[in-house]
Amino acid sequence: MSKLLRATVVAHMLLSEMIREGDVVVDATAGNGHDTLFLAKLVGIRGKVYAFDIQEEALRKTGSLLEENGCLAQVELIHDGHENIGKYVKEQVRCVMYNLGYLPGGDKSIITQGTTTISSLEQATHLLSKEGVISLMVYSGHPGGLSEAEEVENFVKSLTSPPWHVLKWQKINGTQRGPYLIVLYKRDK
Ligand SMILES: C[S@@+](CC[C@H](N)C(=O)[O-])C[C@H]1O[C@@H](n2cnc3c(N)ncnc32)[C@H](O)[C@@H]1O
Repeated sequence: MSKLLRATVVAHMLLSEMIREGDVVVDATAGNGHDTLFLAKLVGIRGKVYAFDIQEEALRKTGSLLEENGCLAQVELIHDGHENIGKYVKEQVRCVMYNLGYLPGGDKSIITQGTTTISSLEQATHLLSKEGVISLMVYSGHPGGLSEAEEVENFVKSLTSPPWHVLKWQKINGTQRGPYLIVLYKRDK
């Protein structure tokens, strides 16, 4: 039960309910590859995952993890920023997943940035199919994290309902600097 207290676990649970075999999805921040592998298993060999990262190290780790698990075939690894998503993804997608911040175990000064995250998110809202979902793990505790979190919150609050449902999973007592989850769901009407 206590695993449900972790927003990353909740993100995986929600996306497992929404993503189907054969879907096309995007991992906007591949990092160490855990989320890419999770998505690759969900969509299967008939589906496709576009996985972005600006660091070669991250894509190398992601590629190895996918290979070890026999999931490399359904993933396109893209060494570019997610702000260029529109250059690579030309079809409608069921999900775009973000895990913001820095690469765990890597260089903590290389972080996602508000401006590029919002540019990517704007494009992602158009690429998303109806009944599609955008998930964002947001970290505000590291240097630069709080301003990015504020920019993300301002952007998602500006999305109109319908078609958007914007939800948040966050511990609200005690410290508020822990990671939290934002989910954008595009209703079909
Ligand atoms: C918290 S990590 C992602 C963790 C990953 N999802 C996993 O499962 O291990 C954030 C990643 O975002 C990457 N990143 C930073 N700016 C980016 C950008 N503009 N486009 C794509 N990736 C970016 C970093 O290099 C880092 O690897």
